[in-house]
Amino acid sequence: MPDTWEALKTECMQCRGCELAETRTHVVFGDGAETAEILFIGEGPGQHEDEQGVPFVGKAGQLLDDMLEMIGLDRAKVYVANIVKCRPPQNRDPLSTEQEACIGWLRRQTALLRPKIIVCLGRIAAQAIIREDFKITSEHGQWFARNGVQMTAIYHPAALLRDVNKRPDTFEDLKAIQAKVRELCGHTGV
Ligand code: URA
Repeated sequence: MPDTWEALKTECMQCRGCELAETRTHVVFGDGAETAEILFIGEGPGQHEDEQGVPFVGKAGQLLDDMLEMIGLDRAKVYVANIVKCRPPQNRDPLSTEQEACIGWLRRQTALLRPKIIVCLGRIAAQAIIREDFKITSEHGQWFARNGVQMTAIYHPAALLRDVNKRPDTFEDLKAIQAKVRELCGHTGV
């Protein structure tokens, strides 16, 4: 049976595929338009996301919303998901075993969405999606094509909150994403 969004979400919400299930409050499945042509992928839920069950709702999420707005996008026009769906304790990086246990959900989300553009937010997502040895400092903003999907990575919004010196590069990367959206998706991206 092919997946439906509803069935996939119901199944995912019950996942106990790794030890993060023991400490989570909510599974953070994903958010946005199920018809979006652009998929943004973060690392994993933080405290606020774990509490609310929605990705990118804390400080980094507010900055992500501002970044989307700068290029004429918003949550209703894109889809946002994470590499791991449950919060790693103390916001540590998700372990490779946790990523491996979880990545199947994102694969199935991607298969349903069939996005034209994937934007990885930060190193963890870029290494899981684009290339294992991806270097975010030297390769952010570069484009990669796989199975007809255009992929890029930008600095994680939390990194931009910590280090404002990364913001000018990200501004350039966002403009390139906007150009790619216009080229491939028309003006709205949906
Ligand atoms: N950081 C992430 O990578 N994902 C979220 O959902 C929130 C913060």
